[in-house]
Amino acid sequence: MKTQVAIIGAGPSGLILSRYLAVHGVESIVIEDKSREYVESRIRAGLLETQTVQLLEEIGLAERLKSEGLEHKGIYLQIPGEKKHLDFMDLIGHTVWVYGQTEIQKDLDAACDAAGQVIHYEVTDVELHDIDSKAPSVSFVDSEGNRNVIECGVIAGCDGFWGPSRKAIPDVEVGAFERVYPFSWLGVMANVAPSTDELIYARHDDGFAMHSMRSNKVSRLYLQVDTDDKIENWSDDRIWDNLAKRMATEGWELKTGEITEKNILAMRSFVAGKLQYGRLFLVGDAGHTVPPTGAKGLNSAANDVKFLGEGIVQFFKANDETGLNVYSDRARETIWRVTHFSWWMTTMLHTSGDEFDNQLQLSQLRHVFRNRALQTNLAQNYVGLR
Ligand code: FAD
Ligand code: PHB
Repeated sequence: MKTQVAIIGAGPSGLILSRYLAVHGVESIVIEDKSREYVESRIRAGLLETQTVQLLEEIGLAERLKSEGLEHKGIYLQIPGEKKHLDFMDLIGHTVWVYGQTEIQKDLDAACDAAGQVIHYEVTDVELHDIDSKAPSVSFVDSEGNRNVIECGVIAGCDGFWGPSRKAIPDVEVGAFERVYPFSWLGVMANVAPSTDELIYARHDDGFAMHSMRSNKVSRLYLQVDTDDKIENWSDDRIWDNLAKRMATEGWELKTGEITEKNILAMRSFVAGKLQYGRLFLVGDAGHTVPPTGAKGLNSAANDVKFLGEGIVQFFKANDETGLNVYSDRARETIWRVTHFSWWMTTMLHTSGDEFDNQLQLSQLRHVFRNRALQTNLAQNYVGLR
């Protein structure tokens, strides 16, 4: 096989990049180790920044998002006895959109189908070759058991935190930073109308709780739990009781319903030392991850796609490598902003059991509740103005 760009991974990074390149007349081939059904039903992100929505609009992928997604003007931040609505429209004149990653994946697959673009799902034995040369390649075994080689000019490593691309870079750990947090999230999807008009981020002495949603009929909820906790310890009743207690405010009631999915997720911040090695470029979770408290993972992946996409188009259309050469530094500047914001939201809202930390968190949150400059700063970071 021969193409301009080999893309490893059909998550949001890989498929948005592939569509971006197609719209700009650059060819790519995408390979993915999971099945299409698995990728389309993998429950993850739900909150899109203005710029992510703009990128999806630019590549013709925002039609269903705009008709079925929910536009939110702000969020609620709360501690027991005090609930503060941050009105992003009033603060900075921007909104965010609630639209599930599962729906984005379906829209991306449909766009690839419509364009006749084949994505190779369920591949195995993916290996990267000659990444420091001008003619790199990617080998893999397809779902029929045939070995293939993709010869290309550029490889985009869009294969998430655990994929092979980052590991193919020599000395990749040099300059990398990682923080694993001492708590996890228990995430729940439930067939019940949301008990709130906009997302609630709540700090409580028992731990953080969050209320998100996927539609007017489906709620997405999260609870801080210990890293060694097991999902078997969490009956549906125990989950609802804890959510109701941690998010309780005067006159507010949590509606409960059928829980259709629940799991526990670890939380980490990670930034690779570099996002480029020769003709290999790391995109999205392959190069960096954040804890989900700031809703930034998919959004910063989209930011990478925009920067790398521009560089690749310039390279193939104008034979100019400038955009490719500045990609790593350009993307990492945004990544560090996002890393700081996600860390700040996470450490401000999750309890550690330490009384000094507790008092600092409460002071910080009250400061945000009362100080418009801090609210503006939070809003700018949350909607992705940089
Ligand atoms: P991935 O989605 O991990 O995709 C990588 C793809 O590569 C996968 O399909 C994988 O199967 C494939 N792959 C791996 N290895 C190979 C291989 N060897 N060969 C071929 N393919 C391979 N972000 C937000 O912006 N907003 C949110 O509200 C938000 N909420 C979140 C909530 C939760 C509970 C979680 C877990 C994450 C959340 N995120 C959020 C983060 C967001 O989901 C990720 O940052 C995003 O999925 C990253 O996209 P990606 O394409 O870079 O990586
Ligand atoms: C979600 O809807 O899954 C979601 C939203 C905002 C976050 C994290 C997750 O900060």
